[in-house]
Amino acid sequence: MTSEEGQKISGKVALITGGSRGIGKAVAAAYAREGARVFICARGEDHLARTVNEIRDAGGEIAGQAGDIGKAKDAQRIVGAAVELYGRIDVLVNNASLLGSRVAIADYPIADWEEVVRVNLTGVFLLTQQVLQVMIRQRQGSIINVSSGVGRTGKARWGAYACSKAGLEGFTQVLADELKDSGIRVNSVNPAATRTAMRAEAYPDEDPLSLPAPEEIMPIFLYLASDESAGVTGKALDARERMKRGK
Ligand SMILES: NC(=O)c1ccc[n+]([C@@H]2O[C@H](COP(=O)([O-])OP(=O)(O)OC[C@H]3O[C@@H](n4cnc5c(N)ncnc54)[C@H](OP(=O)(O)O)[C@@H]3O)[C@@H](O)[C@H]2O)c1
Repeated sequence: MTSEEGQKISGKVALITGGSRGIGKAVAAAYAREGARVFICARGEDHLARTVNEIRDAGGEIAGQAGDIGKAKDAQRIVGAAVELYGRIDVLVNNASLLGSRVAIADYPIADWEEVVRVNLTGVFLLTQQVLQVMIRQRQGSIINVSSGVGRTGKARWGAYACSKAGLEGFTQVLADELKDSGIRVNSVNPAATRTAMRAEAYPDEDPLSLPAPEEIMPIFLYLASDESAGVTGKALDARERMKRGK
């Protein structure tokens, strides 16, 4: 990250779903550190409040609202609270998701399938639809959909998670095409293996220290939030590529 990149997000308003921990928390902290006004949501109130306080204590401008993005009323309430507080939304990071079961499709529990798709795909749709009402009025915005390698190439025993992320890639393409002349850009980012609770749940035997920390993959999120990425839309991007280039 360069300070030049940082200056470009100063003053912007960013809404980050699943901002209480893991990658979403790192994005919230990185954006706040660079002068953005940040709003986060997650289901768990205690963790959310702790993260808000931590980032605020470090000098960031941040607020949050507990809620489940997969519920239409919660999505409306979360976006409404962010707009009431800051008056606009420049950046939406659709980051929240659930891992679900790691079993073959033949054995995949139906209730688990429905829950993962409800949060990972319908939740993104619900939240984005609310934010679009604001961004379309502004004629400006950046939507960053946090995807996964298994959403681009499916793999055995990734079940509803992989299928929901493939759906998210499709959602990104449809929306980018619909918005191509609107000033709003829509891209997906594959973080790749990153040291978080979700990764540890998926790979319990792995040494977490062998993986990059969420803070290390921030350059792509700063780039997509900044004006440097104006005009970049409909792309499936990789966090590791930008990390390697050190930008
Ligand atoms: N970590 C990796 O290696 C990796 C690799 C590829 C892709 N990804 C993707 O990167 C993103 C972040 O992953 P992570 O590893 O940081 O996950 P994580 O540590 O499990 O954090 C997930 C966040 O989402 C929130 N969340 C979950 N369900 C929610 C809901 N229904 N409504 C609102 N918030 C909800 C969680 O808080 P609550 O539980 O309190 O709601 C938490 O803040 C996800 O989209 C994931 O699929 C991660």
